[in-house]
Amino acid sequence: MRHKSILATSAIVVGIVAFTACSKLLPSMIDPSEGLCGPVSMSSAQTILFSAGNNEFFRVRSSSSGLGPYFVASGCGNCHSSDNRGHPFTILTRFGQSDTTGNKFLAEGAPQLGTFCLPGYTPEAVPPGATSTQFIAPITAGVGFLEAVPDSEILNMAAANLNNPDGVRGHPNYDTIPSWATPLNGAIPRGDGKYIHRFGRKADVYNLLEQTVNAYSRDMGITSTYLPNNPSNYLDPTPSVTPSVPEVDNTTLNSTVFYVTCLQTPVQRNPNDPTVLAGNQVFVQIGCETCHKQTLTTGYSPIAALANQTFNPFTDLLVHDMGPGLDDHYTEGTAQTSEWRTTPLWGLGLAPNVQGGNTYLLHDGRAHSIEQAIELHGGEAAVSEGRFEKLSTTDRNALLTFLKSL
Ligand code: HEC
Ligand code: HEC
Repeated sequence: MRHKSILATSAIVVGIVAFTACSKLLPSMIDPSEGLCGPVSMSSAQTILFSAGNNEFFRVRSSSSGLGPYFVASGCGNCHSSDNRGHPFTILTRFGQSDTTGNKFLAEGAPQLGTFCLPGYTPEAVPPGATSTQFIAPITAGVGFLEAVPDSEILNMAAANLNNPDGVRGHPNYDTIPSWATPLNGAIPRGDGKYIHRFGRKADVYNLLEQTVNAYSRDMGITSTYLPNNPSNYLDPTPSVTPSVPEVDNTTLNSTVFYVTCLQTPVQRNPNDPTVLAGNQVFVQIGCETCHKQTLTTGYSPIAALANQTFNPFTDLLVHDMGPGLDDHYTEGTAQTSEWRTTPLWGLGLAPNVQGGNTYLLHDGRAHSIEQAIELHGGEAAVSEGRFEKLSTTDRNALLTFLKSL
């Protein structure tokens, strides 16, 4: 279809531009006001691995290099352009779950829709009766720091909310880890053997290895030793062919994981500007900071630059009930249909640079401005949102200036 080929061509162009932008500047640091693809400080051996991962992240795949048969985009960088928030152009669709009893549609190709397919395959569709939801790509810069936050710190943040007068609660999302994932350092399993998950819109992905393996498989149709079978499509009579050799080898996959793990945290611009400082105070006073935790600390990490670091992601890694307006009728792990992981706010002010000058916020990009994203906060965030509505013009502008400095 003409429509699809335009999409594919544009996606390739975006990927090439993003790749060139990052690789040209490696290994030196990038001006943080321009982009987010810089690495944390590392040894020269690590720089080589990071560069390999950078190339792979922005590589555009085709059918001859493993893409498909079902896919959403042809490279990580097509969705995670410049390592910041994604564009609705590459939105992905999940389907199947409507309750916590498990996904009833796995045999029908759930949990993710292959938006596109290679020639000769039948386009996939959401089966009748299945609930569906849509996610745009979250920011990837700084995710290695989020991975190195100990479970104990996440549990402390949840416990601190128990008597929160605004009605903020929030809990970690627990789920079973894949057999091939090693528990993170200091991880505390629940009685039923489930672990705290922390990545993805509903925090249902365990670690950056699982995230990367899933992305290769579901987003691009690329098999690995971890997930050797291509996702199926119940509408397609052609059995899904399992390639005899994984389409991404472990060395390459590990370099991709290393690349995202070692991305530097976004750096705040103008942190000492008086309006920015005033806006930061408003942010705390009206209760935004209860969920969007300004400062977290990492624990042990085998990568020295990630170990015992204090950093400013503006998330508590918990899932919160955000009210009926943001209820997508879709569950993941113990996250209910209206529950979402607090989105890290870092990189927020740079997002329009990679969203075509526009703004697409919240899990499906429905908010076209920062104000709109805040106004759509309900549920546990309703009290804080109510205070935002009542702010004086000066305080409101200061808050927005602060948010744009992130
Ligand atoms: C089709 C678009 C798309 C492609 C291609 C894609 N991603 Fe993503 N990525 C997403 C979306 C959407 C999410 C949120 C997923 C969820 O909520 O479960 C995500 C989440 C992530 C996260 C977690 C961020 C966080 O804070 O939770 C990381 C890391 C990541 N992707 C890395 C990758 C890597 C590495 C690749 C390539 C191997 C890749 N992605 C390919 C769309 C994409
Ligand atoms: C109860 C916890 C909670 C409180 C309080 C809260 N937020 Fe959020 N915030 C969230 C969650 C969860 C999301 C993700 C919702 C989604 O994607 O549908 C979010 C998303 C956002 C986003 C969109 C970010 C992006 O990249 O898409 C912005 C901006 C934001 N919040 C700002 C604020 C501000 C400003 C306040 C204070 C007025 C605030 N939030 C209060 C939990 C909270």
